[in-house]
Amino acid sequence: MEIVQLTAQQPDLLRQAAALLPRLFPHADDWQTLDGALAEIQHILDEGAAFAAVEGERLLGWIGALSVYDGHVWELHPLGVDPAFQGQGIGRRLVERLEEAARAVGVSTMMLGTDDEDDRTTLSLVDDLYADLWGHIARLRNLDERNPHPFSFYEQLGYRVVGIIPDANGPRKPDILMGKSMR
Ligand SMILES: CC(C)(COP(=O)(O)OP(=O)(O)OC[C@H]1O[C@@H](n2cnc3c(N)ncnc32)[C@H](O)[C@@H]1OP(=O)(O)O)[C@@H](O)C(=O)NCCC(=O)NCCS
Repeated sequence: MEIVQLTAQQPDLLRQAAALLPRLFPHADDWQTLDGALAEIQHILDEGAAFAAVEGERLLGWIGALSVYDGHVWELHPLGVDPAFQGQGIGRRLVERLEEAARAVGVSTMMLGTDDEDDRTTLSLVDDLYADLWGHIARLRNLDERNPHPFSFYEQLGYRVVGIIPDANGPRKPDILMGKSMR
């Protein structure tokens, strides 16, 4: 397996990357068609960077980022590994490759939002997160450690919760915002 930069000159890899999105992100309405997913990838190539884990001609996973805050921050968006290849360290390697690219161009902070749309964390139990916002963040846990939410994957890679957007995807479906220093 190797990690390569995704460019507009690799139509087959781009199609495979697009095909992965609806499988991994069933809640993302805009990504459910091939055209919608390809448009998102083009946006990422235009406004940031993307890397793919490939074996031969096959794409196993990919990661993208958008440059925001005048280039001081990259927003990791999205990250996905083919379910048949999850748990083999590919997600970690993709994040590390993206961070290397970010540092090379002087990015200060990598940020990301990871939604809890499937009631997988303690945040999904709370109707009014505003009442004790930072208390709920401090007590954030997975509801089922056998099916952990990706926030704990990112925590293992050094990311910290920097905030939440309550009800981002409907009542009790928050977005968990995370960041990591690239300095
Ligand atoms: C999250 C995801 C990218 C992880 O990729 P992966 O290749 O399976 O992860 P890795 O094998 O590199 O795992 C790295 C570490 O994180 C842990 N980990 C993997 N998935 C995890 C998860 N969902 N929650 C918590 N920890 C996780 C692994 O156990 C491993 O720990 P270790 O180094 O102590 O063994 C992958 O599960 C995925 O594509 N999920 C669906 C899409 C998604 O949710 N993307 C993120 C949205 S923001």
